[in-house]
Amino acid sequence: MSAPASRSGRAPQSVAVRVPAKINLQLSVGPVEADGYHNLVTVFQAISLFDDLTIAYGDAGSGIKISITGDQTHGVPSDVNNLAAKAAAAICAKYELADDLEITINKSIPVAGGMAGGSADAAATIVAMDSLFALDMSRDEMTEIAADLGSDVPFLLSGGTAVGTGRGDQITQALSRGTYHWVLALSTVGLSTPAVYKECDRLREGMDVVEPVASDVLLKALLAGDAQALGKVLTNDLQPAAFSLRPALRLVLDVGKEYGALGSLVSGSGPTVAFLVGDEDHALDLTVALMSSGVVGSVARAYGPVHGAKVIDVKN
Ligand code: C5P
Repeated sequence: MSAPASRSGRAPQSVAVRVPAKINLQLSVGPVEADGYHNLVTVFQAISLFDDLTIAYGDAGSGIKISITGDQTHGVPSDVNNLAAKAAAAICAKYELADDLEITINKSIPVAGGMAGGSADAAATIVAMDSLFALDMSRDEMTEIAADLGSDVPFLLSGGTAVGTGRGDQITQALSRGTYHWVLALSTVGLSTPAVYKECDRLREGMDVVEPVASDVLLKALLAGDAQALGKVLTNDLQPAAFSLRPALRLVLDVGKEYGALGSLVSGSGPTVAFLVGDEDHALDLTVALMSSGVVGSVARAYGPVHGAKVIDVKN
């Protein structure tokens, strides 16, 4: 076993962290920038689909090992390409720690589904490493590492409801009342985020794309805890691109409309479609309708907002 290095105090043997998925209630995409990225204004909500990630010390010289378990394992890299491995490597390099680590990820967040599953695992890794090595990192230190790993990672550290600007990585918490109920139509095959952004650029070629701004009506609906009003103003600029790459998603959206969803949209870059419903009974009705429609891979139910990446178990 590697000797635990620590900045302060005694370090534990393993740490487990629970991290949520996100949906974007608003995703407004500005013009493409010189570096290929887009300025965004997005309103995130963390929802109750979770990955659980455990980090323990590995044998000396073993490097970073990743194991994936759970019901969403297909297509998740178990090597250096996993964002959790990248997060762990970045922290080991920054704090000069031995990088012999065993990371186990129990995945429930859909892979390549537009719900930030990979980013969630990166956020969980930052929180777990902080605890495992007793690094006592400040929120700013964590956020800096998070933003280098991906645009959605900083939000998943904090969770709740927040406005994201810049690349989506500059986070300001937003006030939100009450609990919102979601039905999520999952696809069996994911969509690549860069491909969806590229398609968005292609569809908007020649158009005058304005700099995005936060939606006042949407933020007011959240503040009032008004699900009916929120349902009417959900927007995603990536939705036409996701439809263009996956035309069958329109059929999924139609089922939700028919069964009285308060609102619906493609989640992030898709292909998950999120339906806002009034309560758990309504969620169950829509789940049954979607399952019997034959146009979705599977269906999940979730509520939000929930907390961000959080330590749930420490073994000494
Ligand atoms: O930051 P992240 O690695 O999650 O981004 C994945 C991809 O999404 C990028 O490679 C880029 O194609 C696209 N993206 C973008 N503008 C943003 C965020 C992401 O174009 N603000």
